[in-house]
Amino acid sequence: MSKITLAIVKPDAVKAGNTGAIIDHIIKAGFKVKAMKMVRMTKESAMGFYEVHKERPFYGELVDFMCSGPCVPMMLEKENAVAEYRKLIGATDPAQADEGTIRKLFATSKAENAVHGSDSDENAKLEVAHFFSRGEILSNG
Ligand code: CMP
Repeated sequence: MSKITLAIVKPDAVKAGNTGAIIDHIIKAGFKVKAMKMVRMTKESAMGFYEVHKERPFYGELVDFMCSGPCVPMMLEKENAVAEYRKLIGATDPAQADEGTIRKLFATSKAENAVHGSDSDENAKLEVAHFFSRGEILSNG
């Protein structure tokens, strides 16, 4: 079981001024932020990041949304990080998310759902590499 996951505070949550509150939830849940930046994704970057969803009907909408404003990708560390972080953010659709989860608190719809979390250890590694070079990741502390 890997100890890392890739989280993104998505453009809807950044625009709404919820970046700090979301990072606070993440830290209070015991995650360490090992890398973080604010970026505006290009279309090419968003298309590559969501390549696995390219056959889905919402792919174009998803890519446009992710490029619509700045977002905040983070590499997080904790034991069993992928599953623990997905528990913290709740279901993709905020209407289905448990009370107290980040999506229940901050997401407005299935599309504009405030945060992203990797769905497997393998994807976590690929997604971290999408945003961060080795020199941008804390090696200790
Ligand atoms: P995320 O965890 O980033 O992974 C894929 C994303 O696709 C998901 O969050 C949502 O933002 C988006 N998504 C999933 N289902 C739908 C849908 N039915 N309509 C629009 N966007 C969706």
